[in-house]
Amino acid sequence: MGTVHNFDFILGIINNEIKTINYPYKPASLFEPISYTLSIGGKRIRPALSLMSYNLYKEDVMTVIPVALGVELFHNFTLLHDDLMDRADVRRGKPTVHIKWNDNTAVLSGDAMLIEAYKMIGKTQEKYLPRVLSSFSEMATEICCGQQLDMEFEQRMDVTIAEYMEMIRLKTAVLLGCSLKCGAILADAPENDIENLYNFGVNIGLAFQLKDDLLDVYGDQKTFGKKIGGDILCNKKTFLLISALSEDSVHEELLKWINIRNFEENDKIKAVTAIYNQLDLKKKSEQLINDYYTKAIENLNRINVPPPRKKTLQELSEYLISRNL
Ligand code: IPE
Ligand code: IPE
Ligand code: MG
Ligand code: MG
Ligand code: MG
Repeated sequence: MGTVHNFDFILGIINNEIKTINYPYKPASLFEPISYTLSIGGKRIRPALSLMSYNLYKEDVMTVIPVALGVELFHNFTLLHDDLMDRADVRRGKPTVHIKWNDNTAVLSGDAMLIEAYKMIGKTQEKYLPRVLSSFSEMATEICCGQQLDMEFEQRMDVTIAEYMEMIRLKTAVLLGCSLKCGAILADAPENDIENLYNFGVNIGLAFQLKDDLLDVYGDQKTFGKKIGGDILCNKKTFLLISALSEDSVHEELLKWINIRNFEENDKIKAVTAIYNQLDLKKKSEQLINDYYTKAIENLNRINVPPPRKKTLQELSEYLISRNL
């Protein structure tokens, strides 16, 4: 089984490998936004999960690099399109691609990045490639479904918490699940473990997106790197907004802010945040995050490797729900 690498070691490998990615193709303008996006940071959680999942069983984590870089490229591609769809001007503390360049560049460089993600996955050892590719593609389709639901929910006022949970499972959680699953496939892990690792990823992914939605309201723009209140401005149906809409005492006032046409952005953000505060929704959301964290840890406990080997995954899970960025 060999050494269990710590998170910093894993992150070091990933960041070194990302630095070696370069696209000397023409026109350079199509690939510059890709290099830009990869160079401005990011937590690298998904590739770390692939390496850590593999490392539960085997030591030579370089075997996982094609999958790890593939999931990170794919994730960054989704961000290029997501920022256009969400009208988001800043990410990782820097202007987003559609702002720095333009909308068409965000679409096309995003497409090119998706293709590069697939080329990277294609470098996986032949023996494992069919299974990795089919898991990856299934996940990619699910992300599109989740993103479409996320968009449709902006216009709807009757979205339920259950619908929201399914939407975030699709748009966010399955990518964490898939990253772990592919790492385990490459390590020849037992089928039961592969399934538990996938479910662990989905549950921690749900907690992760709930936390992202919370930080979108209560985070600090400097550390979070994204505009605080962006979800409020888009009328995103988050746990916070759905819960608030279900309260008769604030329903009318919320609808007024949701439907308002001419307004100062900060006035809307302040007013909606005040409603969330009044209903103590930050705390309710934190409780739900904890519930999914607990489910994730139950999945992790069921994985059939010595507990000390699972410690880094447990620590990463804790970080994902307590983070400020
Ligand atoms: C942002 O993901 C998109 C979500 C699913 C919330 P991350 O928070 O992992 O973004 P980076 O890669 O660290 O910037
Ligand atoms: C992220 O959802 C989902 C995907 C990018 C697929 P968000 O829209 O909440 O992510 P951020 O907040 O822009 O990073
Ligand atoms: Mg977004
Ligand atoms: Mg979005
Ligand atoms: Mg968000």
